[in-house]
Amino acid sequence: ERGGYRHFMLKEIMEQPQAVTAALRDRVDFGRGLVTLPDLTLTDRELAGVSRVVLIGCGTSLNAAHVGRHLVERLAGIPAEAESASEFRYREPFLDPSTLVVAIGQSGETADTVAAMETVRQSGARLVTICNAPNSQAARLADHALLMGCGVEIGVASTKTFLSSLTLLNLLAMRLGTARSHLGSAASRKLVEGLARLPGNVAQLLESADDVEPLARSYYGRNNFLYLGRGINAPVATEGALKLKEISYIHAEAYAAGEMKHGPIALIDHAMPTLAIAPQDGLYDKMANNIQEVKARDGDVLAVLTQGDDRLSDLVDHSVFIPETAPNLTPLLATVPLQLFAYHIAVRRGCDVDQPRNLAKSVTVE
Ligand code: M6R
Repeated sequence: ERGGYRHFMLKEIMEQPQAVTAALRDRVDFGRGLVTLPDLTLTDRELAGVSRVVLIGCGTSLNAAHVGRHLVERLAGIPAEAESASEFRYREPFLDPSTLVVAIGQSGETADTVAAMETVRQSGARLVTICNAPNSQAARLADHALLMGCGVEIGVASTKTFLSSLTLLNLLAMRLGTARSHLGSAASRKLVEGLARLPGNVAQLLESADDVEPLARSYYGRNNFLYLGRGINAPVATEGALKLKEISYIHAEAYAAGEMKHGPIALIDHAMPTLAIAPQDGLYDKMANNIQEVKARDGDVLAVLTQGDDRLSDLVDHSVFIPETAPNLTPLLATVPLQLFAYHIAVRRGCDVDQPRNLAKSVTVE
């Protein structure tokens, strides 16, 4: 049942090209270069009336929500915010009929997310869920359910459902952007070309999955890690750190790299390795500066870089490369080596990868 893999987590990491394909299926008109997303049954007029998007979730799904905020602002030009469902439900959140709430969850049964959705339902705001369980509470509560359809995820650490969420968030943001004429047809066509290449990009990355193992061999004995990313990839740093924490029990902290100089830089020395996500996007030079700051303090840097980036690969201690892609899709690619890194470290440390201590697959208590 593990398809020849030692753990479900590895099997599910390797299934990610299919997960992305499933999320795209019947939702994109590749010929016309348009996102159709027929399961979001709102008219262009209704979508154009959305004045604010609020994205909620917990754990990995919260990290997806933070990526989604960038996507909605960038591709749809609508103010967007992301928040933990467990905080959202205990505020008195401002919600009106022009607010669109997107609740993200693999299981659709997370108590905090479901409770937050109930609050939203009473408010008159529109409610969409992105989830992987058609018969879940979330799917029932939402006005519109965007189902991942990537098959059950068994490993407690979410992997393929994160990439599914990010794919669906791209589609949602593009659909909103087109409906309100923020995203023109040429831009949409270009983004759709990127989406069409995405499953192949993920598959290509996984072909060199074994390259991450030697890094884990060198670093599995460390007790602390720092993860840095910026912009749309800051939540990817958080997701990488979460993976490492939950399955290997190593302390890992994630920071938006610009925050480093405001405190965490004091932690850096030879014993504190940094995982840096630095694809060639608009924040590349800023990330390069942050990496230099770490190197100047004798810290080891393991970097996720765009293929062919000699400048940064000469500067850092170890590089893992991702294929070139559009900036809105880098989070999907940059996540994969971080999942593999956490996985191999946990295996080396003899941890129970699929069922880490103290954790359940779905958290149905508060
Ligand atoms: O089923 P959900 O996506 O709502 O679950 C939310 C979190 O409990 C979950 O993502 C958790 O953080 C994972 N173990 C992360 O790998």
